[in-house]
Amino acid sequence: MQISDRVFVITGGASGIGRGNVEYFHRLGARVAIFDMNAEAGEALVAELGDKALFAQVDVTDEASVARGIAATVERFGAIHVCLNFAGIASAAKTLGKDGPFPLDKFNKVIQINLVGSFNVLRLAAEKMAGNELVDGERGVIINTASVAAFEGQMGQAAYSASKGGIVGMTLPVARDLASFGIRVNTIAPGLIHTPLFEALGEKVVTALSQQVLNPQRLGTPDEIAHLAKSLVENPYINGETVRIDGGIRMQPR
Ligand code: NAI
Repeated sequence: MQISDRVFVITGGASGIGRGNVEYFHRLGARVAIFDMNAEAGEALVAELGDKALFAQVDVTDEASVARGIAATVERFGAIHVCLNFAGIASAAKTLGKDGPFPLDKFNKVIQINLVGSFNVLRLAAEKMAGNELVDGERGVIINTASVAAFEGQMGQAAYSASKGGIVGMTLPVARDLASFGIRVNTIAPGLIHTPLFEALGEKVVTALSQQVLNPQRLGTPDEIAHLAKSLVENPYINGETVRIDGGIRMQPR
């Protein structure tokens, strides 16, 4: 799928990796719809980018909210060709910690936003993509975001890893379901990516975390995630796949 002039829905687009992708694909000539809860950051970004960008205050877990965002995108840009799901939260607690068992409402919230939210957006985006004209055998591309925690979750990551493992698990069946519509579905599994979260941790922590990455020995960047997303959008032969992008973090002996 070509990028220029195509319409991208990017969830979590007001911050971090999502924001990096909004800026990247906007630079390449795409029209971008930012779906995020954070109206202040989302609207400020649209003010920078101009009329090829729109912001919709969307809660990915809420059916009506996503439907409104999709409708606003189609009304403004006429279609949806690409859906990039970056909205997510990372909330850590031990299964049994000093304050007791992992609070169930906290576990549920992570699953709702990361897993159910991604599915909610992709299913409603796919419904619109199905109405697109078939161009070179394609009507749309969907990319979800897992994490290396889907495969190698750390202590405290039971909910986060379960949510990301769910994203990896649904990638193939959703790709199968949407194949006959000409819609491809892939998942990106990032390692440690430099986002505002890491800035808040301070330089010492960033250096310590960087040393866990073998080569290159640093955190990844949102641009590097966008570079992979670009490949997945453009290459018609990648489908139903989960791609790790982590600087080889699992090669580090522990
Ligand atoms: P971030 O916190 O900088 O951005 C996440 C965005 O999602 C925020 O703008 C937030 O407002 C939005 N959001 C949260 N809940 C929402 C909801 N219910 N509806 C709509 N928007 C919502 O996070 P970051 O670091 O950019 O992460 C983006 C994605 O990448 C997440 O799915 C995360 O799990 C994943 N990831 C991040 C890694 C990292 O090292 N930063 C590593 C592996 C995966």
